[in-house]
Amino acid sequence: MALVVSGIRPTGNLHLGNYFGAIRNFVKMQEENNCFFFIADYHSLTTHPTPADLHGNVKTVLVEFLACGLNPEKATLYIQSDLPETAELYLLLNMNAYIGELERCTSFKEKIRNQPQNVNVGLLTYPTLMAADIIIHKAQQVPVGKDQEQHLEMARTFANRFNRLYKVNFFPEPVAYNFGEELIKIPGLDGSPKMSKSDNGSSAIFLADSPEMIRKKVMRAVTDSGPVDPDQPRSQGVENLFTLLAYFSGNEALEHFESLYRSGSIRYGDLKKQLAEDIIRFTSPFREKMAALDSDHEYLKKVTNLGAEKARESAGKTIREIRDIIGFKPF
Ligand code: ADP
Ligand code: TRP
Repeated sequence: MALVVSGIRPTGNLHLGNYFGAIRNFVKMQEENNCFFFIADYHSLTTHPTPADLHGNVKTVLVEFLACGLNPEKATLYIQSDLPETAELYLLLNMNAYIGELERCTSFKEKIRNQPQNVNVGLLTYPTLMAADIIIHKAQQVPVGKDQEQHLEMARTFANRFNRLYKVNFFPEPVAYNFGEELIKIPGLDGSPKMSKSDNGSSAIFLADSPEMIRKKVMRAVTDSGPVDPDQPRSQGVENLFTLLAYFSGNEALEHFESLYRSGSIRYGDLKKQLAEDIIRFTSPFREKMAALDSDHEYLKKVTNLGAEKARESAGKTIREIRDIIGFKPF
């Protein structure tokens, strides 16, 4: 039974990649660990400092988390900004975080390239806030994708540095959660190897997409002009469709279209029609649950209050101890 923490930024709807790469694993993990899952609304301000509807964005992710099967009774499900203890620990960690090491962070360099008009301090200190999220609960394990490994490494650095500087053995070293099996990566409909929301949704299918929208997106997915030599590697777009077919349509359909491909008589339109219907079938239970949760204000309030209460109990204890270690003491 490990203490696990993970967060997700509320910057849009969840897509199939987020579900298979993250949320589905959270749902499994909550059964056998003490899990804290939160919506990283503070973090979202580093890239979207004046969101048109922050509350709406948080609600969207909350509803989708719950529809995917995160259980507020089993895991602690909370909103980052409901836990001011995180902000206090972030302030304290920043005193021992060095500008040089933050500037060297790959995600910082990437973001200043993407938003040169807004190189804010929040962006620079993104890793200290993320470290605070993790060690505020003294987490041992963090389920994150490859792109977050450097951030997790920095969380270890800050935790170890705290222990060393204040001569305590207080924070455990948070490590990546080991999923055992290969992490599933869902490819994009635009021919990119990873489904992502960042390209205006052309590559992604969202859990909230209507059946008509799913059909439209799948039918528009990138392919090529047809198999030339079945022994040559397939184009990335077509390869992606086969990968998606394997996940959503199963072996029989996969073999059917594989053999049509090998014989050179495949019609991509037929493959897409089948794939679209299977994705619709897969996603409809999520859409139904999301619609019910969306209007259940009382339940959402109950869930977030319970989450905040449980998270503050854990974080409050850590902050009291840290204050004592550093030397903030009452008269
Ligand atoms: P995006 O910006 O595309 O929505 P994020 O980078 O915010 O995705 O990722 C949120 C979580 O979802 C992370 O844990 C990430 O590893 C996972 N994830 C995102 N896209 C995919 C994908 N195509 N396949 C598997 N996991 C993914
Ligand atoms: N940086 C993570 C992402 O973009 C989100 C995040 C914030 C997080 N705080 C965290 C993930 C703490 C794990 C643990 O995906």
